[in-house]
Amino acid sequence: MNTQTQTPKPMSFAILMSGMLEKGALDEFRQEWRNYQRCRKTHLAMEDNAAFPLLDEVGGGAISEAGLAQEHSADLANAERVDNASTPEDAKQAFETWKKFQLDHLAHEEQVMSPLTMKTAATPEGRGRVVHETLVLPALEHGDFEWYLAFVIERLTTYGTANQPPGVAVRVFAWGLQYASTPGEWTRWKKIIHDNTSKQIWEEMVMQFQIDGEGKIKD
Ligand SMILES: [Fe+2]
Repeated sequence: MNTQTQTPKPMSFAILMSGMLEKGALDEFRQEWRNYQRCRKTHLAMEDNAAFPLLDEVGGGAISEAGLAQEHSADLANAERVDNASTPEDAKQAFETWKKFQLDHLAHEEQVMSPLTMKTAATPEGRGRVVHETLVLPALEHGDFEWYLAFVIERLTTYGTANQPPGVAVRVFAWGLQYASTPGEWTRWKKIIHDNTSKQIWEEMVMQFQIDGEGKIKD
């Protein structure tokens, strides 16, 4: 279990992977890269198959107009160049291209999607149900959700996000998921969260957010 300080580390994934390439540690890089791409596949399945169509509907075609699905295709093409790189030099060049596009894409998505998510339902419970239908179910269908959950929680616990220290990042993700889970799902998933975060973060979430309670979606 880690006990990292609660300091945001911008672009920590990218810095970590760039550092591996700087050292010429290609095998280490490839392992990390494979994990990250595996995680991205679940994320893409959620967005392309359900979140984009829904947000397009509530946003009058804003997602299509912004070309977010096309950006996913470009991102995958960039990722393929990293997959196929045979030397640390090639990998570094392909990785830098992928990274720049990826970060611009994430910023673009946030700018277009964030205001629309509030329009999907009037209450947190209503939005939880929408998230269940448009993110969780497609992710389950994709078939790798529990691995994805463990990986995301472990990384958020270690690094946080660009804007949030680890404790906040894990809590925002876990609390959102609790609202988007049925009681049966949450029984399994809270255990995965517990096993992949720190004792300190888990205890804070239990005390302040009743994260060990029930999934909020009632059948
Ligand atoms: Fe995306």
